[in-house]
Amino acid sequence: MRTLNVGLIGGGFMGKAHSLAYAAMPMFFWPAPALPVRSIIAESDEALAAQAAQRFGFERSTGDWREVVEDPDVDVVDIATPNHLHAEIAIAAARAGKHIICEKPLARTTAEAAAMWNAVKDAGTVHMVAFNYRRTPAVALAKKYIEEGAIGRVLNFRGTYLQDWSAHPDAPLSWRFRKDIAGSGAVGDIGSHVVDLARHLVGEIASVNALVSTFVPTRPLQSGGADSLGGERGGAGPRGDVDVDDEVMTLLRFEGGAVGSIEATRNAWGRNNFLTFEIHGTEGSIVFNYERRDELQVCFAADGDDRRGFRTVYTGPNTPYGEGLWPIPALGIGYGETKIIEAYDFFSAVVSGGSVSPSFKDGYQAALVDEAVLTSATTGAWTSVPRVDG
Ligand SMILES: NC(=O)c1ccc[n+]([C@@H]2O[C@H](COP(=O)([O-])OP(=O)(O)OC[C@H]3O[C@@H](n4cnc5c(N)ncnc54)[C@H](O)[C@@H]3O)[C@@H](O)[C@H]2O)c1
Repeated sequence: MRTLNVGLIGGGFMGKAHSLAYAAMPMFFWPAPALPVRSIIAESDEALAAQAAQRFGFERSTGDWREVVEDPDVDVVDIATPNHLHAEIAIAAARAGKHIICEKPLARTTAEAAAMWNAVKDAGTVHMVAFNYRRTPAVALAKKYIEEGAIGRVLNFRGTYLQDWSAHPDAPLSWRFRKDIAGSGAVGDIGSHVVDLARHLVGEIASVNALVSTFVPTRPLQSGGADSLGGERGGAGPRGDVDVDDEVMTLLRFEGGAVGSIEATRNAWGRNNFLTFEIHGTEGSIVFNYERRDELQVCFAADGDDRRGFRTVYTGPNTPYGEGLWPIPALGIGYGETKIIEAYDFFSAVVSGGSVSPSFKDGYQAALVDEAVLTSATTGAWTSVPRVDG
């Protein structure tokens, strides 16, 4: 069976998720499109890289990501670093002729995203941005229902991404709160996932009208190198400025005529990974909540008046990706499975010489939506979202 050598850059939260996906993908999807070989992993220094290689099962390690990109044996470059490195690494990898999977948001700015999209277009290699929530089987089922016309013409999309890992004002100053590294706050980090779901399920977003806020303006500096998210509470030590938003809400107008809204916040005590959407169509409604990710709530207008209401469909062997996952409905899909499916679809595209969605073009389009959100929040006006050409 064909093999593809993976060079992974970044061994943190996403490095763990992607390594798991490469190890497990052939166990779920067999025959695999190709066997992923965990060839080389880069971290910010040699010692961290060696530790990551041991932990995540890579053959070699390096403290310099350029070694990964320049390695002629590497087929796939996987970018799982904080956002400020995405553009430089992806452009170098494209120039070296590598297939690339890059974590979201694609970049800090639309200028970086445009340069990345141009680089992969020139390279002609396969590229993907890792908006993995699309690949939750229940989300894929919602997409199938919409495409089949089961809820008619979509009128309204309401999406939320509510979290509380940093709701405490003493949760540390993760890189996610620094504009120079992250680009934006809740907008790019979690709002972009909802933008991706809205585009995937309903279509292009034409214009937005948004509010953004920063409720926690300073946070304790982190002590160690690894980003602890909300896992530790800083005490009376030094604090640093938060120069990104921690809350966003926006109205949406879709090109196809539907309307909608997105809310994303890091201040929602009690909401853990509350990524939801509710979609109303002329013939029914669909509701999804990632915290109950095996389930899709559906209501079809065609049901008799005396039985109309939401019912629960559990994903399983007869719903999208079911052939590779677990043999009984509701056995339990986790975050890991969404990344395994992502790796499967990415590898399938590399082997077939095709393309895969969401691509860098999608990542750039999502960045244009994010930029319009931030502009609208400053001007207070409805703001049009330009379309990526080509
Ligand atoms: N798809 C998702 O659901 C999801 C979830 C979380 C994070 N992300 C994205 O994944 C990316 C990484 O986030 P994370 O949560 O894994 O962050 P993290 O802080 O846990 O891990 C990032 C890793 O990159 C390493 N790194 C930093 N500089 C490096 C360099 N020069 N060379 C090599 N490695 C370097 C760090 O040491 C760290 O181990 C970000 O773009 C983030 O937005 C996506």
